[in-house]
Amino acid sequence: MLLLTGAALIAGASVVAAQVDHGKLTGTWSSKGNYTVTGPGFYDPTKDRLNEPLHPGISYSFTVDGFYESAYYRAIANPVSPTCPKAIMQWQHGKFQKLANGSLVMAPIVEDGRQLTSDPCNYDNSIYTHYNQSELFERYEYLIDPYHNVPRLNLYRFDGSPLPPLYLVYQPPNMLPTTTLHPKTTATGRSKLKRSLGILPPSPVQPTNAWIDADRWWWFGVGVTGLGSFLYFCC
Ligand SMILES: *[C@@H]1O[C@H](CO)[C@@H](O)[C@H](O)[C@H]1NC(C)=O
Ligand SMILES: *[C@@H]1O[C@H](CO)[C@@H](O)[C@H](O)[C@H]1NC(C)=O
Ligand SMILES: *[C@@H]1O[C@H](CO)[C@@H](O)[C@H](O)[C@H]1NC(C)=O
Repeated sequence: MLLLTGAALIAGASVVAAQVDHGKLTGTWSSKGNYTVTGPGFYDPTKDRLNEPLHPGISYSFTVDGFYESAYYRAIANPVSPTCPKAIMQWQHGKFQKLANGSLVMAPIVEDGRQLTSDPCNYDNSIYTHYNQSELFERYEYLIDPYHNVPRLNLYRFDGSPLPPLYLVYQPPNMLPTTTLHPKTTATGRSKLKRSLGILPPSPVQPTNAWIDADRWWWFGVGVTGLGSFLYFCC
């Protein structure tokens, strides 16, 4: 069953039966250049760490049975100091549903989402937090890109504005396990997850000390090494 939890958005909306053919959506999609791709290369759940891709980009993965994963790495231009863009990495996974009216609703697993923001010119530390944002895509289009001759996915945000075109990178999709990776944290703030997901490339973003556990949210300082590619722009 494709029952969603915590998705007030879809309450009352008529939902296509669970066995709906998500065929065309199935796979891993990435914006131009394939720099940002879902899966363990982007988010390492064992170390609980986001790995900065070479360049900004967006990636979505969808399974045939209603699971999704999303990865965003964006730089936000600073018109006052062009060499000081802010950068944001966001990772989520959960379930999605296609509504009868053609919209897609993404309901993330609230414990698992992660966000890393960096503002290198205003402070030395990046900010690493939980991230939980359900999404509605008003509609989507599948096509064979006329220039690159590869499958392409156009996603339109809730307000109708398009995401950059996404191109098919992997089929079947390249994703982390679709189950909850970080079951509710204990009073000490430690994750119960002990399972290793294998050897992963080292991250340029090195978390350091200083856990401040405040219920669902935490912050810790990360070194500024590797922030060079935050100077690229995207989207
Ligand atoms: C489809 O239904 C959902 C839930 O009612 C709504 O939020 C969304 O805007 C609708 N999409 C379109 C294209 O009308
Ligand atoms: C991105 O992935 C697709 C599918 O594997 C491949 O055809 C394409 O060449 C890749 N592009 C880059 C820039 O790596
Ligand atoms: C997660 O976000 C949704 C809306 O995006 C909200 O309804 C829900 O309460 C949030 N859950 C937590 C645990 O923050």
